[in-house]
Amino acid sequence: MDTDRLLEELNARNRSALDGGGEKRIAKQHAGGKLTARERLEILLDPGSFDEIDRFKTHRCTDFGMDDQKIPGDGVVTGSGLIHGRPVFVFAQDFTVYGGSLSLAHAEKICKVMDAAMKMGAPVIGLCDSGGARIQEGVMSLAGYADIFLHNVMASGVVPQITAIMGPSAGGAVYSPALTDWIFMVENSSYMFITGPEVIKAVTHETVTKEDLGGAMAHNAKSGVAHFAAADDRSCLEAIRTLMAYLPQNNLEEPPRAPVTDDPERREPALRSLVPADPNKPYDIHDIIHSNVDDGVFLEVHAHYARNIVVGFARLDGATVGIVANQPSVAAGCLDIDASLKGARFVRFCDAFNIPLVVYEDVPGFLPGIQQEHGGIIKHGAKLIYAFCEATVPRVTVITRKAYGGAYCVMNSRHIRGDLVLAYPTAEIAVMGAEGAVGIIHRQAIKAAEDPAAERRRLVEDYRERFANPYRAAELGYVDEVIDPADTRRRLIRALALLRSKRDANPAKKHGNIPL
Ligand code: HXC
Repeated sequence: MDTDRLLEELNARNRSALDGGGEKRIAKQHAGGKLTARERLEILLDPGSFDEIDRFKTHRCTDFGMDDQKIPGDGVVTGSGLIHGRPVFVFAQDFTVYGGSLSLAHAEKICKVMDAAMKMGAPVIGLCDSGGARIQEGVMSLAGYADIFLHNVMASGVVPQITAIMGPSAGGAVYSPALTDWIFMVENSSYMFITGPEVIKAVTHETVTKEDLGGAMAHNAKSGVAHFAAADDRSCLEAIRTLMAYLPQNNLEEPPRAPVTDDPERREPALRSLVPADPNKPYDIHDIIHSNVDDGVFLEVHAHYARNIVVGFARLDGATVGIVANQPSVAAGCLDIDASLKGARFVRFCDAFNIPLVVYEDVPGFLPGIQQEHGGIIKHGAKLIYAFCEATVPRVTVITRKAYGGAYCVMNSRHIRGDLVLAYPTAEIAVMGAEGAVGIIHRQAIKAAEDPAAERRRLVEDYRERFANPYRAAELGYVDEVIDPADTRRRLIRALALLRSKRDANPAKKHGNIPL
């Protein structure tokens, strides 16, 4: 056997696969500010850790002269590698090969790594850059998409699934990313839409650019479809690595612990004056989050969407926590449709992947308004209730100020299986704010008073004294402990240490019926 000749052939085949769509198309990709699929994987994965599979797989299409046009790999690079030393499965669509379009063979490669990820219990990361269904293949390509959708759904809640949109993603192709847990988008070079600007123009006569319709900020700030926006390919891939550091490999594992570099007993006296006594004065909940978590590091998720609620990952004494916090500096931290959806999805991810929840509560209630009511705040708000009610991970609440009305119940209260409820002395736990309450229960008395304004002030003060504090709820055991805000960090750390052995379960069922 001529080993040299065999190796030469292997090398030649490898070179041809590594060339992708060829120099010209690679140059075009670079000119558009985009990296190639292989360059992207190099940044995403630990150096030298990528092992490729199916490098020589090709499509089986014979129409439109495609049998003469076969490029090894068929427009997607697949395999496994390491991130922070832990295995992940990856696929990266190669736009230089048939525009990264999806043939049945291309889909089979993606499904193969997803099957392996499920078997091994490792996350799947997909880097999308594709013109959609391979037009020459017709229904075979659609079958490929449907296969991927099924894989996405079967993997949901079993292994983390992350998608980066790093080029076009249009038509039904957007639904695979949408079925994954996290979507990253690159500004100015990625877009997602069901139908593009031309079709919209023809059907609804609206004029819109690709970027405004489905660019990174459109989906990060408006639709909420995407969770992270990055300035370029490199920062997008680095951001995925950062997120991965917080996540477990699968639903049977605990999230990884990081070495502790911050004193778990650290006190923060500045927190004593951070929450204004005046319930109408805003403050930034980020300040409380940052001062309590390890080294002040907080990875915010969905930072541009529904900013009246803040969600994201941090560490307490080295362990990952998911934080859900009302944001008093945006729309007074009220719960509206978007905030409910954002919060509910985050809570469900954390619960699926064994990530304890820390909830900071300062919420005046659900947002009133015709638009909210007709938009379905009832069913969307119910999603947040549902998500908290079914969560069995450790759950601690810190009521910093307002906990009013239905929102008190929703935000991880004791009644819906919150494990520990802490309150600051500034907490107000009531059906509603004092002004509103007095207006309703003392309407007649105020009208009949000699000086209605003075009477109203007196009654508001009286109501505030009775109810606008944490002690009524503490007397009833609904608040477990009223704490000095300076002690928040160490109190949270101790609570979560105790809750590490928590075991809780939901009744056996096929699945619940979350109000979708
Ligand atoms: C086959 C495709 C392709 C496709 C692009 N190419 N899209 N080949 N099937 N879907 C090829 C081009 O022929 C070209 O080949 C190369 O990829 C690069 O494409 P360009 O058009 O030169 O690139 P660019 O100008 O950057 O435009 C990118 C694009 C455009 C906007 C994505 O290519 C485009 O509109 N493509 C068609 C998109 C589409 O309608 N897809 C089907 C959507 S329906 P050469 O050889 O010249 O380099 C769908 C259904 C999924 O996806 C349903 C799932 C349920």
